[in-house]
Amino acid sequence: MKKYLAKSKLKSVYVENGKATKVFAKSYNKSDVLYEALNTARVEDAGVKLPKLLEVAVTDGKWSITSEYVEGPTLTQLMEKHPDKIDEYINKMVEYQVNFQKKSNPLLLVLKDKMIRQINSVDDLDNSVKYELLTRLNSMKNHTKLCHGDYCPDNIIVSSDNNGNIKDITAVDWVHATQGNASADIANTFLLLKLQFGEKSDIPEKYINRFCEVTNTKHSYVNEWLPLVAAARLTKNKTEEKSLLEQWINVVDFQ
Ligand SMILES: Nc1ncnc2c1ncn2[C@@H]1O[C@H](COP(=O)(O)OP(=O)(O)OP(=O)(O)O)[C@@H](O)[C@H]1O
Ligand SMILES: [Mg+2]
Repeated sequence: MKKYLAKSKLKSVYVENGKATKVFAKSYNKSDVLYEALNTARVEDAGVKLPKLLEVAVTDGKWSITSEYVEGPTLTQLMEKHPDKIDEYINKMVEYQVNFQKKSNPLLLVLKDKMIRQINSVDDLDNSVKYELLTRLNSMKNHTKLCHGDYCPDNIIVSSDNNGNIKDITAVDWVHATQGNASADIANTFLLLKLQFGEKSDIPEKYINRFCEVTNTKHSYVNEWLPLVAAARLTKNKTEEKSLLEQWINVVDFQ
């Protein structure tokens, strides 16, 4: 029997016989579905521990992608259940990310190229701000580390013991994966945590601090990416995100 894990206008995910199937609405662009499947397979080829891709199909005119089902709650659900264990969860989240950042695949899109296209395509940004952002982006170091692009607690699946201690962790939703600078992916997750938990939460800051601690990275180096990833994210056109993203873009003026 099908059990639905997520449902929205454009996508739904159900589990059946140990497999998870993501079904796309008829209006969905076929090339976007095939890109998601190919990109996920390329991350799998890079050697990342993730639910393996099993099938791409069309049923009743709707495209779908089937992969192995990973049992367990999302990290968001576990955080809600055990708020006292947040520090430990952030550590695990960073550990998994730092591990996949050691992998790469030259066939993935280059993050910087993708960000240049995104920033250029935002209508709501002044040309002078765009120029400033693109100049900064250009000066950032090129790396080829695997970046998830949407690494947030909703896309992390965990298994835990009865006390809420994480035993295993994996990530889904690799459609935005690229090769690029690890700190850009960290800055992106920082923004996603701000958007999820609110500006007053200390979770985003704890997350960056943990990354800097375990990788010996300067906090200011990650911060330099914040206006850039915030500007790139404006392309999603989510009204509820606009003011927070603009706030982070404006940080560029003061540096
Ligand atoms: N292979 C899987 N095993 C277990 N759960 C999964 C699997 N794939 C997806 N899920 C669950 O379904 C949810 C939605 O899937 P996914 O993140 O791929 O799509 P989405 O968030 O709708 O896509 P997008 O972020 O592009 O809008 C996930 O957060 C996760 O809880
Ligand atoms: Mg998702």
